[in-house]
Amino acid sequence: MRVAIIGAGAAGLASLRHAKEYGFDCDVFEMRENLGGTWIYTDDVGTDRFGYPVYSAMYKGLRTNLPKEVMGFPDFPIPEQNKSYLTQAEILDFLNLYADRYNLRNFIKFNSIVSEIRPLSTNSWQLTYIQKPTHEKTTATYDAVMVCNGHYNDPVVPEIPGEEIFRGEIQHSHTFRSPEPYEGKRVLVVGAGPSGLDITLQLSKVASEVVFSHHSPEARNTCFPSNVQQRPDIKQVVSENSIEFVDGTCCCFDAIILCTGYKYSFPFLHQSCGVTVDNNFIQPLYKHMVHLEKPTMCFIGIPFNVCTFHMFDLQARYFCQHLNGTMVLPSTEEMRMHTDREMQYRWAKGCSKRQAHMMGQYQEDYYNDLAGDAKTAPIAPVYVKLRDTSVRQLYNDLLNFREDRYKLLDSENFVKVN
Ligand SMILES: Cc1cc2nc3c(=O)[nH]c(=O)nc-3n(C[C@H](O)[C@H](O)[C@H](O)COP(=O)(O)OP(=O)(O)OC[C@H]3O[C@@H](n4cnc5c(N)ncnc54)[C@H](O)[C@@H]3O)c2cc1C
Ligand SMILES: *[C@@H]1O[C@H](CO)[C@@H](O)[C@H](O)[C@H]1NC(C)=O
Ligand SMILES: *[C@@H]1O[C@H](CO)[C@@H](O)[C@H](O)[C@H]1NC(C)=O
Repeated sequence: MRVAIIGAGAAGLASLRHAKEYGFDCDVFEMRENLGGTWIYTDDVGTDRFGYPVYSAMYKGLRTNLPKEVMGFPDFPIPEQNKSYLTQAEILDFLNLYADRYNLRNFIKFNSIVSEIRPLSTNSWQLTYIQKPTHEKTTATYDAVMVCNGHYNDPVVPEIPGEEIFRGEIQHSHTFRSPEPYEGKRVLVVGAGPSGLDITLQLSKVASEVVFSHHSPEARNTCFPSNVQQRPDIKQVVSENSIEFVDGTCCCFDAIILCTGYKYSFPFLHQSCGVTVDNNFIQPLYKHMVHLEKPTMCFIGIPFNVCTFHMFDLQARYFCQHLNGTMVLPSTEEMRMHTDREMQYRWAKGCSKRQAHMMGQYQEDYYNDLAGDAKTAPIAPVYVKLRDTSVRQLYNDLLNFREDRYKLLDSENFVKVN
């Protein structure tokens, strides 16, 4: 069984670790020169020195928004330390430790960008990759493909009415690297996802004024430093430096940072793979991960609002159980019906297409379902509980929640130790 894994971030590493343990013959393709994906910091934006795109949303000074107790792998937790919320560099060190522990490095082809994947009539896959330094193209055939390319590569950039008259800089958080260039400036941050909240906080330390524009009910009562004001959505640009909001108020800005999220993007999947993305709803996926028409392809790490590394690990075990024949998937028709039913349920609950793969309140059921089907270890409830607590703390106490320290007691319970 030859398995190709696209990406050596946390999802690709977990996939490789398990696929290797089943005895599959694995190649990992990683376009960067190191492993760790999201957790690598680079000053680069746009294109790299070889002329290929830089996929990095990481910025200086980032600390995690989940405690380390939630962020480890099931049987490889993040080592004990005197804080719970780690820095970007500490998570990157942890992923390197993981790669060394499971001897993953030799299976990774670095500086290798997968440019095309096509299905072959024999149920296998033809993969083409480019070695960035030489631009040399190579084609190879695999029995299975695990797509682990991350989903913070392709920014959503909304159009602001009148933006052509705005004289300041408008950028997406994907190219935000540090608050320093905004010293003394008036900055507008748009969008209340985790990046919008955290970038607002980072900017408040150096900018003269930060306005945080969003429509999120969760973030409305969050306390910010005194130089931060909240506003509803933007209505339009009214002059070269002034923006009007939908409540009729106006403010002047030197710069706008759009923290407006990302699109799932698989530019290397040839059309004949039959994968579509409609407003961030990816089809045709069984259980948010298996290509139900061509089930030797899977996607690891699609769901969001999850216990990230734990879920990657579980999804990888699920897919390996299937590839190995230990778990038999239902027929294509049954998988399609199952998926339709699940999506009907989600739409009826008020999920939008953008939330098609959102877990949050559904995550425990999702994990138990995967683990049950694959007869593999479930994710202990304590991780979901601690994640929920920590997300609540983020909104309740944005300024201090990263000082909280937690300790896991057993598979059900944790305590806050400070
Ligand atoms: C700013 C930021 C902060 C975050 N903070 C947290 C946090 O606090 N806690 C948390 O749990 N999660 C956080 N996340 C989510 C984070 O994305 C996940 O934790 C996790 O790192 C995702 O891993 P991944 O392997 O799915 O994707 P990535 O880490 O993005 O890895 C994908 C890899 O695939 C490679 N790749 C892509 N396309 C190709 C191609 N065509 N050919 C070859 N290689 C390719 C990329 O170079 C990359 O190395 C954060 C994300 C961002 C952007
Ligand atoms: C894979 O399948 C083989 C043959 O059925 C079985 O013996 C083996 O235990 C399976 N491997 C794992 C890791 O489950
Ligand atoms: C945590 O440990 C580091 C060194 O390991 C030390 O520099 C730091 O002061 C400690 N912090 C606390 C809160 O004890």
